[in-house]
Amino acid sequence: MHENTIGTVMITQEEILRKAKEIGQQITEDFQGEEIVMVGILRGAVLWMADLMKNVELDMTIDFMAVSSYGAATKTSGVVKINKDLDTDIDGKIVIVVEDIVDSGVTLNYLKGYFTSRGAKEVRICTLLDKPDGRRVDIHVDYIGFTVDDLFIVGYGLDFNQKYRNLPYITYLEG
Ligand code: IMP
Ligand code: MG
Repeated sequence: MHENTIGTVMITQEEILRKAKEIGQQITEDFQGEEIVMVGILRGAVLWMADLMKNVELDMTIDFMAVSSYGAATKTSGVVKINKDLDTDIDGKIVIVVEDIVDSGVTLNYLKGYFTSRGAKEVRICTLLDKPDGRRVDIHVDYIGFTVDDLFIVGYGLDFNQKYRNLPYITYLEG
């Protein structure tokens, strides 16, 4: 069996924690006096969301969704399947979607529409990583941790065949 190897460290845990503090403070400022619902997209966003939420000083609740793309052609089809739906009523609420990475933008474009259709009064997107070279749909991302090159990224929640999520840093897959 072909073994994938991982490359050098691209982003350290220290850098991620510093960024979580910076963005958490920004969200706190942006929604002063308001209540927010933070929605993490399973499973990749879990580590980043945990870091982020500790730095948000607002009344807030959290929820999670699990989604997957339909088949191999989905990057263009834009169809996203919901595997785990919200447990929270977001009608009239401010939703901050937390993702691990925005690549084509298809997932978040779909989710933004979904949250709006469920009555969210505002939907903001916060991603640990942005891979702009992969973009296929035009989507505005409000809070971006780091911009990365068009590599296959793993670590800090991001996986390859469900592995490497536990790495405490961001790296990429080699060959
Ligand atoms: P999008 O709909 O193409 O923006 O895809 C976003 C989802 O694809 C992310 O939530 C990740 O689960 C996955 N993904 C995209 N690029 C990578 C990568 O480089 N490494 C690991 N997962 C990725
Ligand atoms: Mg994901």
